[in-house]
Amino acid sequence: MWTSLPALFLPLSVLFLRGCAGFECPRFCRCLSDTIRCNFMTEGKDHRDPKLSHHLSLKTISSHSFEGLREVKRIEIAQSVTLETIEALAFNNLLNLSEISIQNTRSLMYIDRRAFNNLPKLHYLSISNTGITVFPDITSINSLESEFILHLYDNLYLLEVPTNAFSGMTKGYVIMNLYNNGIREIHHHAFNGTKIDKLVLKNNRNLEKIHRDAFKGAMGPGVLDVSATAISKLPSHGLESVLVLSAQSTYTLKSLPPLQGLSRLQEAHLTYNSHCCALLSWSTHRHFPINSPWNNISTSCGEVDDLGRVQSVIGSSADITLLVSEPDQFEENSFGDLDFHYPVLDYCQTQPIICTPEEDAFNPCEDIAGFSFLRVAIWFISILAITGNLMVLLVFFTSRNKLTVPRFLMCHLAFADLCIGIYLLVIATVDLQTRGHYSQHAIEWQTGPGCSAAGFLSVFGGELSVYTLSTITLERWHTITNALQVERHLLLTQAAGIMAAGWLLCLGMGTLPLVGVSSYTKVSMCLPMDIETPLAQAFIIIVLLLNVSAFIIVCVCYVLIFLAIKNPEFPERSADTRIAKRMAVLIFTDFLCMAPISFFAISAAFKFPLITVTNSKILLVLFFPINSCANPFLYAIFTKAFRKDAYQLMNAIGCWKRKGSVYRLKACCLENAIESNLRSDNRRLQAGMSPAPVAHHQLQLNDLGDLT
Ligand SMILES: *[C@@H]1O[C@H](CO)[C@@H](O)[C@H](O)[C@H]1NC(C)=O
Ligand SMILES: *[C@@H]1O[C@H](CO)[C@@H](O)[C@H](O)[C@H]1NC(C)=O
Ligand SMILES: *[C@@H]1O[C@H](CO)[C@@H](O)[C@H](O)[C@H]1NC(C)=O
Repeated sequence: MWTSLPALFLPLSVLFLRGCAGFECPRFCRCLSDTIRCNFMTEGKDHRDPKLSHHLSLKTISSHSFEGLREVKRIEIAQSVTLETIEALAFNNLLNLSEISIQNTRSLMYIDRRAFNNLPKLHYLSISNTGITVFPDITSINSLESEFILHLYDNLYLLEVPTNAFSGMTKGYVIMNLYNNGIREIHHHAFNGTKIDKLVLKNNRNLEKIHRDAFKGAMGPGVLDVSATAISKLPSHGLESVLVLSAQSTYTLKSLPPLQGLSRLQEAHLTYNSHCCALLSWSTHRHFPINSPWNNISTSCGEVDDLGRVQSVIGSSADITLLVSEPDQFEENSFGDLDFHYPVLDYCQTQPIICTPEEDAFNPCEDIAGFSFLRVAIWFISILAITGNLMVLLVFFTSRNKLTVPRFLMCHLAFADLCIGIYLLVIATVDLQTRGHYSQHAIEWQTGPGCSAAGFLSVFGGELSVYTLSTITLERWHTITNALQVERHLLLTQAAGIMAAGWLLCLGMGTLPLVGVSSYTKVSMCLPMDIETPLAQAFIIIVLLLNVSAFIIVCVCYVLIFLAIKNPEFPERSADTRIAKRMAVLIFTDFLCMAPISFFAISAAFKFPLITVTNSKILLVLFFPINSCANPFLYAIFTKAFRKDAYQLMNAIGCWKRKGSVYRLKACCLENAIESNLRSDNRRLQAGMSPAPVAHHQLQLNDLGDLT
């Protein structure tokens, strides 16, 4: 028996730890006190491959361990908790060896350089679930096989793929499955000198950097999978031959490399649907080199039998090892330097790209302003809102009149509406910058700080505006119903307290989407439309319900005010109709702003969207800011009190302009000052601050003064 198999002794000089419970000497091994000798069953004997395996207690696979195993085809080392080192030339000159598999050896820390040396028939090498920290040197394998499969996975301490890591491994095509490792970085020229069929890097969760020149000197890859990694950029060169690109759950990959660099892409499975928008719109007008030698062949594209096979292979999940075989009819060099592995597919490039995920309801393939009239409208509205509210703030701040409660509230209203104006301006600016190619920038914008800031402004401004509007209305109603009891009027300190609470509330609402309750990143308009989690849904519904109840409060208050005025005891009749008209306008604009958005938003929040995001943009651009544009006019600019303030400001400015001499300036300003003093005295009198008796109707009219 032994003499018939002289070459099959494996002199493994290993440390055999005695007394290791559970260790059973394999049937085909002879176990001595400090040595294990195994004779491998060979294929020649009973078609069983040698297995040096299961619970071996060896520490080292030393040099030349397998020397002389000329006919061995497969070496498997697995389930060893003790194996620590593989020495140089451990697998040396094994001319018939085709598969090496080293698995589940968590203590294996070190594989010496040239451990795998001259294995011309090797076409499968698997090193998985080991403790190696340095990329194993596989550059002297020199396989002559036309296809090589390299599995390197679950090596959690493997941190880098160095330069020239694979050169000299094989001359043929390689499928590299490098998934689930701890790889953080792939260096430049890492794949130098290889022809990569397929490169799977998925689940290297720490992989942040693939060097710009990582694919320099390499051919391929045809299939690239960087799913579930942390890369933020794909190399801009070296992806020309990628046919299938997988980057699912790669949330950090916010922009694609220049699309010209992906000239042969057929299929992409990405993380963000806006990238698909960009790819698809680009692919519809990409053109292929006219002089390509394939152009003539492309006419026979559909007739080639292999097409179906190759496509079905590519079409299947990228996880599945690609069955690549070079069709005989295409010699490697028959197409000059374009001898890529899927020639058949290349003929048929006219097919549209398959890309997932497709556009969804939240991210349609369009610019921020979906319609061009919106682009014009959004500029107009934002500038109107900003100038109107800035004007109000300017006049109030420069006013020398006493700060009253309505004036104080009006300042807050103007500020809130200014926020909305700024939000719209930001959106309009980004829209202008990304016009025509928004989908390429969508993710960078939506996940960036700009969008968060804009979204915060919109929610904060919108809610503060609603809150202040309600407060103003309540305050007026309170003042009018308590017209006679001056002591019950709202004091400035009370108003400040109410507004402070409002600020806190609105700041909180604006901040919640930033900290994970809903989010501003869902849509290009940066509004919190994310209702995926119940919490987010609850948040949106609460915000909307608050808005609706605020609207109801405003309506009820105005009705009550109107009734109070209509009261026959109310002396001044002439103002009735004017006030009624003004109130009607106020409620109408409020309603116009609130109702459509609230209606559709509430339906969407309950996950029954009645309109598309594209159409909702019309609502959001045209209706949402109605109040912000109208408020400065309705509550300030059109009121008498404001016009007085503005007149004073104008006078003051006029003074500076008209200054001919210092004396004239002095005289002019003195005059103004006296005038305004007189007026404010008068106002104080009217406002009932003076203890002097004031006629009722005068008092009441003044309460409405801000309204008329
Ligand atoms: C490889 O194996 C074949 C039989 O399968 C044998 O004829 C040949 O000699 C072996 N090659 C070497 C180099 O031992
Ligand atoms: C790439 O590999 C070739 C040989 O295949 C070698 O000459 C060259 O120096 C390598 N490039 C780098 C940058 O290492
Ligand atoms: C393509 O076909 C035309 C004739 O149809 C021929 O003149 C031309 O040389 C061919 N091009 C290549 C690159 O074979």
